[in-house]
Amino acid sequence: MNRRDFHRLSARGAALGLPLTGAIGSALVPSAASAATAPPATATSSANALWAQAYDAVPEVWTPLRVAFDRPLPEALSGTIWRNGPARMRRGDTRYTHWFDGDGMVHSFRLRGDAVVHAGKMIRTDKYRADEAAGRFLRDGFGTAVPGSQPFARPDEANVGNISVLPLGRELLALWEAGSPWRVDPDSLDTLGRKVWSPASDGLPFSAHPRIETDGSVWSFGYLTGSSRLALWRLRPDGSLATLRVIDAPNTDMVHDFAITDRHLVFLLMPLRLDPQAPRNAAFIDRLRWRDGEPSVMLLVDKDTLTVSHRAELPAHAFFHLGNAWREADTVTLQVMSLGGMASTMTAIRAAMAGQPAEGLGSAMLEVRMGLNDRRVRVERTPMRDAEFPVWDARRTGQPTRHLMALAAAESLPAGGFGFNAVRRFDRVSGQVSGFDLGAGMLADEHLFVPQPGGGEGEGWLIGTAHDRQAERTVLSVYRAQALGDGPVSQAVIPRRLPPGLHGRFQAV
Ligand SMILES: [Fe+2]
Repeated sequence: MNRRDFHRLSARGAALGLPLTGAIGSALVPSAASAATAPPATATSSANALWAQAYDAVPEVWTPLRVAFDRPLPEALSGTIWRNGPARMRRGDTRYTHWFDGDGMVHSFRLRGDAVVHAGKMIRTDKYRADEAAGRFLRDGFGTAVPGSQPFARPDEANVGNISVLPLGRELLALWEAGSPWRVDPDSLDTLGRKVWSPASDGLPFSAHPRIETDGSVWSFGYLTGSSRLALWRLRPDGSLATLRVIDAPNTDMVHDFAITDRHLVFLLMPLRLDPQAPRNAAFIDRLRWRDGEPSVMLLVDKDTLTVSHRAELPAHAFFHLGNAWREADTVTLQVMSLGGMASTMTAIRAAMAGQPAEGLGSAMLEVRMGLNDRRVRVERTPMRDAEFPVWDARRTGQPTRHLMALAAAESLPAGGFGFNAVRRFDRVSGQVSGFDLGAGMLADEHLFVPQPGGGEGEGWLIGTAHDRQAERTVLSVYRAQALGDGPVSQAVIPRRLPPGLHGRFQAV
């Protein structure tokens, strides 16, 4: 693909007037729910009061703050947890109504010996600086239609950089998914500008869920809404661009995650399609429709040729995230964190952001298997229920793994509460699910797996933050991954109410 083709595709999405944003899936919801509103006048009393309040007191900068752990950390945990997530939800009298709309903030949690140093800073995207100068939000968000919003020519003009992070070579990238990554100084957390690998790739979407090979090379993709095409990226371990190609594919109006095996890139494409009849002034997710009765499409892309080698249809399952994938003999297995539905999930998120009770997500982990010879697909439901934000031993990304860990909604979650308050681990061999319930008062962020050097698959630690619903504090916990039920082996209480975020990565020293 040449430079002109890239720009034509980028412009095609923009020409549709799409924010081309999105952390997670979407479907039609009542349009009134997507309109920006003034913030709630008073705190709600529901289980989701935290969601309504946590974003209203986020400063531009969290200056470095050192906090001791209650017990020393294992040496393998010397390093940094990088995290990203929506943080700024309000300007003037406008408040975003959807979690995924907020301007991104990058956090560092530097772990050394018996202490953690937390710092955070808003990601100063072009969109952020334009809003700041105007004193209001200028663009529609993923899930919020902003009154008086302005059209834009390129997706990066609406890029909030708020989904994930990727340490790459000597750089730290803040990832959105519908536009460019943003370069962030790992020491100061200052925003350095958009990441542009080449003139031809400038502005093409780069997913928030890249997959990293054991040699450090990186695969990613980008969806080009309205074009039925996917951009495929491969980066070398030093962060330089090795390959970029655009392929034809169905159902690419919004694709949040993919997976890799030793030979393939694996896509599971939902029947979630741009509706040309949708109102032009609707938020992005409200311009997508779930096509009832239509199948999902599983695509395997050959890593060597970057062409589609296998395609099969299966009953559609709504999902945000995939777990690991691998090939064994003539079968490819893909782990899928399925949801009860896209529309119901979006409704739940908006309810939580308004501080109102929300329905459960009805999530369950599936294993989807495709025969490489007959292209038959089988779907198996696992005992991993009410779970999301999957992680596994990244030393075996693309290879068979026995263990998958995730957040879960425990029975102790308050009625109507949105989010997760447990960590769980699924053992595929025994079929057992183990875990730890953080209790009704806590709301957990994604937890990360850190392997034990020299240890077997799944041996190591699970680390992550959780928000206290009642107090101005965030708790950073460390669990032995193979003994989650024993509870945290070490904790640090950070006296800050951090905004509930999305994804992160651990980088060892
Ligand atoms: Fe995600």
